Amino acid sequence: MKKEVIEPLRTLHDLSKAINSTLDIEEVVEMVQEKTSSLMGSDRVLILLLDRHKGALKVYSAYGFEEGELWVKWFRDVRPFDHCIVQKGTVITLEEIVPEDDYKELVYVTPVLADMVFAPLEIKGEAYGLIGVMGDRRSFTAVELEIFCALGSQSAVAMENANLYRKLRNAFLHTAEALAEAVNSRDPYTGGHTRRVCEYSIKMAGALGLSKREKETLRLASILHDIGKIGIEDAVLRKGGVLTEDEELKMREHPAIGAHILGIVEEMRDVIPGVLHHHEWFDGSGYPGGLKGEDILLQAKIIAIADAYDALTTDRPYRKSMNGEDALEELTADMGTHFAPSLVEIFCSILRKDKGVVI
Ligand SMILES: [Fe+2]
Repeated sequence: MKKEVIEPLRTLHDLSKAINSTLDIEEVVEMVQEKTSSLMGSDRVLILLLDRHKGALKVYSAYGFEEGELWVKWFRDVRPFDHCIVQKGTVITLEEIVPEDDYKELVYVTPVLADMVFAPLEIKGEAYGLIGVMGDRRSFTAVELEIFCALGSQSAVAMENANLYRKLRNAFLHTAEALAEAVNSRDPYTGGHTRRVCEYSIKMAGALGLSKREKETLRLASILHDIGKIGIEDAVLRKGGVLTEDEELKMREHPAIGAHILGIVEEMRDVIPGVLHHHEWFDGSGYPGGLKGEDILLQAKIIAIADAYDALTTDRPYRKSMNGEDALEELTADMGTHFAPSLVEIFCSILRKDKGVVI
């Protein structure tokens, strides 16, 4: 087989392997852009997604464009381009699908669009959008155009898979949140505790520069941190006042119960430590492990702060809520005993900046 065929096929194969190695939609799109750019020798790559109901193409991502170069976000009333899917290797230009007047205006403000060709992003014979590179039909060989279209199909499948995975994950997170709220509704917390603890935790994760994976683990651990309360009897959980020593001991079982429940699910392995240790104290006087300082996992220390802040700033049957600033001072007073000092400082600076949260 000729070298000019083998090389692009090899790159296409590499692309296929790479984009199917992740289910993170942002990573998939990034790889598609980079590989398309190198395979087709184009310094710009444009991905457009089709909204069939509106008959419009939306700019999904623009690689290599200068800031402000591409101010158009939608192309409306586009003509169908399904023929590209039927006739493999067929590419189109925007001029062929955008209404004439719109096209004139479009290339007047963004002239580079007139120098691009597009291949369909295709899934099971249906156009999902377009992927564009610099050049015209004459600048590519027939083989290159075939490969460009094959690349469009590969990219579309990988993007769709990642999207489906994201939807599935969101559904799972919402189910976990609903379950946690159902458990929380039994005790004297006001509604929304789970969601707020999760939001505060994720803000901390952002400030600490945690990885995507660490953030996702923290998100789940913060949602499920009190799931073990499902195993605490109403007489203790709903008492609302000061607990007796015996009741306190029972209440203190909830992190271990939660960890036990989550232990049934293999995929929850990383989430368990955050749930199990969210009541540890920085000075070692917490429970259930009596862990101290750096021995306490970061996610557990974050949840402890988020949990305490939300408890202080919401009404409880036995006391009124504090305002945000007073609650932050309370957390600051407990630095080094209950909470990790550096994390409290970060939490305070986040919330003080975020005027929408501090009352
Ligand atoms: Fe708890």
